[in-house]
Amino acid sequence: MAVIITIDGPSGAGKGTISRMLAKKLGFHYLDSGALYRLLGLAAKRHNVDTGNTKGLITLAEHMDIRFDITAEGSFKALLEGEDVTNTMRTENTAVLASQVASHVNVRAALLKRQQHFATAPGLIADGRDMGTVVFPDAELKIYLTASTEERAQRRYKELLEKGEDVSLPALIEQVRSRDERDMGRDASPLKPAEGAVQLDTSELSVQDVMDTVLNLTVVKGLFKSIHR
Ligand code: DC
Repeated sequence: MAVIITIDGPSGAGKGTISRMLAKKLGFHYLDSGALYRLLGLAAKRHNVDTGNTKGLITLAEHMDIRFDITAEGSFKALLEGEDVTNTMRTENTAVLASQVASHVNVRAALLKRQQHFATAPGLIADGRDMGTVVFPDAELKIYLTASTEERAQRRYKELLEKGEDVSLPALIEQVRSRDERDMGRDASPLKPAEGAVQLDTSELSVQDVMDTVLNLTVVKGLFKSIHR
């Protein structure tokens, strides 16, 4: 039996950081569902499948050769057809591709089982947009993380500057806004808080504040008796 904790929300809300820390703390598996959509976007580009070609995308979603690894240093690594694509996967261009391929209802359906297979004992932290609403509706704990558009763009800006990338903050704010619009406005599993989800605005919170709140919730929900920080 696997305990499932879902962490949904828009890009830059802190899902990835919190999910990875939580998975490590609890000794759980980790599903980065955004990475799955990002790899599908990259696979589509590699095989010249248009992001509007639903049939082609479904075939890729069902058969693409992907692997996720956690390195000895604890960082997340993604392989597409044996090639390490971790860095390419994180670019803004790939994010746009991911958001486009993710808007097709049948493409999402083709990825559903693949995502559900990650739920193995002792438990899973599932990070994405529809983890609590569609993929794991019976999860023991559902969390919806959010933050203001400006704060989320700022976080991304800092991250990219640290990587030495030349970026403009206004352009990033616009990108965040348009990706939100596409992810929240689509018909297929739009981004929204799941029923019963605990909503947390992280704009003014530190990573440690968010971790403490989430760990407390796991105790309150009776998933763990107490957690030593
Ligand atoms: O979390 P992320 O930024 O890596 O996700 C990239 C895109 O993938 C996001 O803009 C929308 C899509 N996505 C989705 O539709 N459903 C998910 N569960 C995860 C991501």
